[in-house]
Amino acid sequence: MTTKEHDLVVIGAGPGGYVAAIRAAQLGMNVACVEKEPVLGGTCLRVGCIPSKAMLESSERFWEAREDLAKHGVKTGGVTLDLTTMMRRKDQVVTTLTRGVDALFKKNKVTRYQGHGKIDGPKIVKVTNSTEEIELKAKHILIATGSKANSLPGIQIDGDRIATSTEALAYSEVPKHLVVIGAGYIGLELGSVWGRLGAKVTILEFLDRILLGIDNEIASGAKKLFEKQGLEFRLSSKVTAARATADGCVVECENSEPLHCDRVLMAVGRAPQTEHLGLESVGIELHKKGTIPVNDHFATSAEGIYAIGDVIAGPMLAHKAEDEGIACVEYLATGYGHVNYDAIPAVVYTQPEIGAVGKTEEQLQEAGKEYRKGSFPFRGNGRARTLGQVEGMVKVLADAKTDRILGVHILGAHAGDLINEAAAAISFGASSEDLARTSHMHPTLGEALREAAMAVEGKAIHI
Ligand code: NAI
Repeated sequence: MTTKEHDLVVIGAGPGGYVAAIRAAQLGMNVACVEKEPVLGGTCLRVGCIPSKAMLESSERFWEAREDLAKHGVKTGGVTLDLTTMMRRKDQVVTTLTRGVDALFKKNKVTRYQGHGKIDGPKIVKVTNSTEEIELKAKHILIATGSKANSLPGIQIDGDRIATSTEALAYSEVPKHLVVIGAGYIGLELGSVWGRLGAKVTILEFLDRILLGIDNEIASGAKKLFEKQGLEFRLSSKVTAARATADGCVVECENSEPLHCDRVLMAVGRAPQTEHLGLESVGIELHKKGTIPVNDHFATSAEGIYAIGDVIAGPMLAHKAEDEGIACVEYLATGYGHVNYDAIPAVVYTQPEIGAVGKTEEQLQEAGKEYRKGSFPFRGNGRARTLGQVEGMVKVLADAKTDRILGVHILGAHAGDLINEAAAAISFGASSEDLARTSHMHPTLGEALREAAMAVEGKAIHI
């Protein structure tokens, strides 16, 4: 067996792991990254954020060409779907980006080991692949193994008719009727994709609302818009079973008739991926939710072993994992490293998009925090009018005493890009007045954010 030595061995090359590896190398460490898949980038690049955004974009172009361009005086006619080309384009985007990570590893001299990484006692990681076993000795080990799709009791995921987002990113034809279980991020994004491409989409949700965790006013506004687009929601529907039949699938819910469809997408959350990692060899015990407990510096209970991203507590978001990876290795190298969890944005890439950062109104009310609220609808924004995308609003929540911004919630075109300004404002401890007094380019959608901040003082102009 070959033995190698490194300052840091990162297990997992998703956005958390590969970014941590590169940052650690920049800081002068001799870094290795172990990844079981033949391509780098993790769920996000291979079968998550990137391919889903490619499909969202393509399906939206298709929908626009069929339904919307005529309004702009652009006559198309005879628009048809070439799903094979759409999928090929998505695959090319993924390949370009995953190869990009390879190039970044080479540039930063991060050593890559392909195979399954398993901790084998303090400071040892064993890598096993089909041809060899390698022993890596490491001063520090960083676990960044991400998450995997949840299932439900009574449902056998068969990877075909009853499947997860991975398969729903590669259906070979548009389902006639797609039943989505779970009205969260994945359910809404992939439900939107296949709805735009022509499927009837029914979304079953256990709760009495969609998008738990998103500000309620924004989520209910969004639901109305999605319904107008043709998505059918059945809230308070607890799915108890789903099975494939000879010609499709049957989904059973408590208190309602079984649903017949031709595909089922399971989108009921994800669970940390911690199996076969050898955690027992170093005495790491999981939290009851399946996460790896860590301290403020991402250190586990085992000396020299750290964990970040979806395997620890907090939202399962690629950029949260990246931030934690950077903070973790910066702390190792310099003694400083920090993540501001109040300023981590979240985006749902529906049409329109939803962007959020900081506290929701419900969270502030629950905490008994006094706040002031300013909202501004996109129908009062010139740029939104020119785009023909006037749906939605911006909402700014500020501390009633200090005016410090506590939360920003956006439903509207390009909310996913607009929210970064709000995240920067919260990071810098800005007040709503700071945002209101910042000059914003005209005509831009960002002016709606400024106007919402102005509305906190009752000074919005264009409404
Ligand atoms: P999610 O946690 O967002 O939503 C799952 C939904 O399933 C919840 O609303 C839940 O109430 C519902 N559910 C649970 N059991 C059910 C049952 N028996 N019957 C009906 N409904 C049931 O999880 P999702 O959408 O699977 O996404 C997984 C993770 O991936 C999330 O943590 C999300 O943060 C991340 N993600 C992020 C994206 C982004 O940043 N744009 C895109 C896609 C995923």
